Amino acid sequence: MKLVSVCGSPRNGNTEWMLKYLHALAVADGTDSELLLLRKLDIKMCNGCLACEAGGKNRKGLCAIKDAMPGIYPKLLQADAIVFGTPVYFEMVSGLLKNFMDRTCPIWTGLEDKRLAGIAVAEEGIGAAIDNMKTYAAVCGMTWSGSVTALAKKPRDVKKIEGTGEQLRQLYLALKRDAN
Ligand SMILES: Cc1cc2nc3c(=O)[nH]c(=O)nc-3n(C[C@H](O)[C@H](O)[C@H](O)COP(=O)(O)O)c2cc1C
Repeated sequence: MKLVSVCGSPRNGNTEWMLKYLHALAVADGTDSELLLLRKLDIKMCNGCLACEAGGKNRKGLCAIKDAMPGIYPKLLQADAIVFGTPVYFEMVSGLLKNFMDRTCPIWTGLEDKRLAGIAVAEEGIGAAIDNMKTYAAVCGMTWSGSVTALAKKPRDVKKIEGTGEQLRQLYLALKRDAN
């Protein structure tokens, strides 16, 4: 299985801790796993030009914006499973993650039948964040493999919550099972 995880938090906080935990589990299991920290990558906002749509379903997978995204497209297209992680902002996914979703416009038709799972962290309530990801999966024709959510506020508070590691292990096993 090839796994790509995407962290949509602008800080080294709870979401990043959970994705790093999942990534470590995958690596220890011999999975080809990569974790993308959006906060460290040069990814500009989608400018809505829609040049990527030329060719319709058979689009070439090209984006007019020159930044880190063209290098990420092949990773997503080669992945069997993708995990999105987000802090909950105003009960939705973070802007970083939403823009990442928008920037997959050149290749989203190539994500069909891949697995998608979600991780979300909020102070009080997850709101629509996981549903936002499920909507993305439905639009892309991806199979939803499940989610892990946690309530935590300060960076790495989530580490103190008993059972989170086991929930992440179960999510990893579900992804692995679905991808095979
Ligand atoms: C702009 C902003 C909006 C937020 N909105 C919510 C919210 O709607 N509901 C909630 O429970 N927590 C909200 N929070 C709290 C974060 O979800 C919480 O601190 C979480 O631990 C952040 O995850 P991270 O450590 O991975 O960045 C918000 C935080 C910020 C900065």
